[in-house]
Amino acid sequence: MSVARAFYNKIADTYEAGFGKAYWRLYDQITAEIIAKHLPREPSLILDAGGGTGRWAVAMAREGHKVVLLDVSEKMLEVARERIRNNNLISRVTTIHSDIRKMELNDNNFDLVVAEGAISYCGASYQKAIDELVRVAKHGSYILASVNNRYGLALTILKKFDLKEGVDHIDRLLETGEAFTDLPVHAFTLDGLKESFRKAGAEVINAYGKHTLSNFLSREQKEELEDEKVFKKFEKFEKLMMDKPELIGFAGHILVVARKF
Ligand SMILES: C[S@@+](CC[C@H](N)C(=O)[O-])C[C@H]1O[C@@H](n2cnc3c(N)ncnc32)[C@H](O)[C@@H]1O
Repeated sequence: MSVARAFYNKIADTYEAGFGKAYWRLYDQITAEIIAKHLPREPSLILDAGGGTGRWAVAMAREGHKVVLLDVSEKMLEVARERIRNNNLISRVTTIHSDIRKMELNDNNFDLVVAEGAISYCGASYQKAIDELVRVAKHGSYILASVNNRYGLALTILKKFDLKEGVDHIDRLLETGEAFTDLPVHAFTLDGLKESFRKAGAEVINAYGKHTLSNFLSREQKEELEDEKVFKKFEKFEKLMMDKPELIGFAGHILVVARKF
């Protein structure tokens, strides 16, 4: 069993606990805004790859779309199925247990592909995942993908370890893109990600940083974000900074919008 599958099976029941926190609300708000901006106008077919507990799949189905929610963790899918039932969306959301690197789905099939958080967990074989996501998208349609950001992760490592240990982790990360967060991840540079999408047959047309200024917050400051007034200010800062190329480099995650050729 892959490390990611075992990890997400283990934490499926508690996965969503952190999303109520102000710090993760900042992240989700950007995802929600970019998804909303790229949803097809007419009821369409959407793939939520690595869709986990179905947070985005259900939101998109509520807008009238048919969604295929695909994930490698059967336990995450169990939580998703309960959410789908509770929202009376069984007729609109189908779940598939599969790895994104090898999906038994037709070519040129989806009007929109969303991959919120899964590609980085494919380690060194991330290109296979990107190839697959692009393969199943229709020509001209969007692929929205969020990944760990290499330089942003270097900052997280700095905050987490003492310097003697930290510099070795950062050295490896900068050389290879590989690092260990809660589980092994491949962290991308924006240029590397653009190149991977190009190889797969899509062009990155926009990129957004998620947790841009907030990536610099200490653990204590993240708690202070719970104060509504502080949160509102940070909401403003993040929205102002999310699309600035010179700042995306230090964001925790990068969300790219690619369009299939
Ligand atoms: C950070 S969670 C994101 C879940 C969901 N997209 C969301 O935003 O709440 C990452 C998800 O990717 C899934 N995943 C990781 N590697 C995968 C792979 N190779 N194939 C399919 N899903 C994968 C995990 O099981 C997990 O549900």
